[in-house]
Amino acid sequence: MCGIVAYIGHRDAQQVIIKGLKRLEYRGYDSAGIALLNNGLNVYKKKGKVSELEEYINGQPLTSHIGIGHTRWATHGEPNDTNAHPHYSASKKLAIIHNGIIENYSALKQELINKGHRFVSETDTEVLIHFIEDIQQSNNYPLDEAVRVALTQVIGAYAIVVMSAENPDLLIAARKGSPLVIGIGKDEFFMASDATPIIEYTKDVVYLNDQEIAVIDNGELRIKTIEDAPTTPYIQRLEMELEAIEKGGFEHFMLKEIFEQPRSIKDCLRGRLDVSSGRLVLGGIREYVNKMVHADRIIIVACGTSWHAGLVAEYMIEEFCRIPVEVEYASEFRYRNPIIREGDVVIAISQSGETADTLAAIELAKAKGAIIIGVCNVVGSSIARASHAGSYTHAGPEIGVASTKAFTAQLTVLSMICLIVAQKKGTITERKFHEMLVELENLPAKVEEVLKQNDKIKELAYTFKDATNFLYLGRGCNFPVALEGALKLKEISYIHAEGYPAAEMKHGPIALIDEEMPVVFIATHDSSYEKIVSNVQEVKARKGRVISVVTKGDELIPGMSEFVIEVPAVQEALMPIVSVIPLQLLSYHIAVMRGCNVDQPRNLAKSVTVE
Ligand code: G6P
Repeated sequence: MCGIVAYIGHRDAQQVIIKGLKRLEYRGYDSAGIALLNNGLNVYKKKGKVSELEEYINGQPLTSHIGIGHTRWATHGEPNDTNAHPHYSASKKLAIIHNGIIENYSALKQELINKGHRFVSETDTEVLIHFIEDIQQSNNYPLDEAVRVALTQVIGAYAIVVMSAENPDLLIAARKGSPLVIGIGKDEFFMASDATPIIEYTKDVVYLNDQEIAVIDNGELRIKTIEDAPTTPYIQRLEMELEAIEKGGFEHFMLKEIFEQPRSIKDCLRGRLDVSSGRLVLGGIREYVNKMVHADRIIIVACGTSWHAGLVAEYMIEEFCRIPVEVEYASEFRYRNPIIREGDVVIAISQSGETADTLAAIELAKAKGAIIIGVCNVVGSSIARASHAGSYTHAGPEIGVASTKAFTAQLTVLSMICLIVAQKKGTITERKFHEMLVELENLPAKVEEVLKQNDKIKELAYTFKDATNFLYLGRGCNFPVALEGALKLKEISYIHAEGYPAAEMKHGPIALIDEEMPVVFIATHDSSYEKIVSNVQEVKARKGRVISVVTKGDELIPGMSEFVIEVPAVQEALMPIVSVIPLQLLSYHIAVMRGCNVDQPRNLAKSVTVE
């Protein structure tokens, strides 16, 4: 939520920052701004996308070797030019960019107003930079000390970067709760919310830890804690390649990421699965498998699409491991005084590894003695680091705001965790275990087979692009797929869609069905097949327009459907990895046909770092 970029070095700061902001736009796109040192400290900012900022500053001579930039997802104050970051201090000698929320900003603001400060924006961020300057001036502190002291009095989450008109060689950054990566080049430094703006220039990075302050002064990087204890920067080498964050010939990141799934699933399985020897190993959780085997209960916490992955995992874990599972929205769980006992295992699922509610939920569970297993995509992310153990999904950077390849990789990892625990616990037969391993290995090819139907799905999209409502129905493991299909559609095409367990339909949604209503059935051949056939009949009888996702060779449901998408036969527990693919493509094509911004849907952000 909000992207920040800063640069100091021999390059043109404006270019580095604008390019970086475009890479971070998935984090928010309500407004964008940049501060540069060119004949003084100048801030340029504009409501809307980074391209609008670019247009606005185009033609102005803005040469600067230092600068900070921001792309915003609005929290305090509506999206407009004034509330856009960077924000000036009272003297306009300091500027700040900020990702996060300062919770005690109104008390600080009142204090500053009493001292004569005047604010131009409605943001919490402007209060923070005034506060920093006030501390600096009243105590005659160096800027880094003023930042440090200010942050000791701030409640909330932040990643900030501050620059000063008076010191052209100084950048100060700090983080608590929101991510910040520092890139170290030759005589140059980069700072950003994630590594994507940096990777083009250097692969050597330092992930700033919570409650740390980084000071880049005269070409040197120093890191200290908020308590003023120096720490040694831990420089890591990034493994990400530039092409992983570019569109590679696809019209949108979302489409590229949908089509990448055979590869991302393969990457997820690589080095972990060996069918010939019957080996399945997840190095990251090895030490904790026993804890899971003996767990009285597994609690899964997540948000959004990751929560849907958790629902699928519930079916798998209960089926194969015979351990009770509860799947919780992280935001509900953390505010409910949940009952957590020692012996409970919490699995946190998060693509970004930065979702504020999921992070807070695991901190709470950890404090109550639970073991935390993280399933994250972003290496080194906050949730990954806050977990006792975990497995990365290795799907590669996901840039489209609507999650696709991260979801299927999450399901792949969760199924591996489940199988490892079930085998150790003795709740799965050797034969079933082997069949599941074979199926895991076959998944990339089966997903590829579904992707081949892209053109057919495009035709289907054309037929229904003007619908105003959609219903998605599924049973068992395909119920969470129905939820995910509906979420994908509403996120990017703004068509109202609901996912429902097919049998529950008759307790309400059936009232919505008329001859206009598209109803998508995820009705693959599984243990509830006969039951879902009846549900299809019920919709048909009310003249609903049936679109069905069925197992190849099905002879019954196609006869009752207006449109049919066939998917290959897959072991029931792994079917969601395949049956979700046509739904991703359907929502993608509908959104494109409706002229929607697929990669950056309105009001959404990829990484929700506010509560
Ligand atoms: C946002 C994104 C979703 C994502 C959810 C959880 O809402 O737009 O795509 O599923 O956050 O994010 P996480 O990174 O924790 O999986």
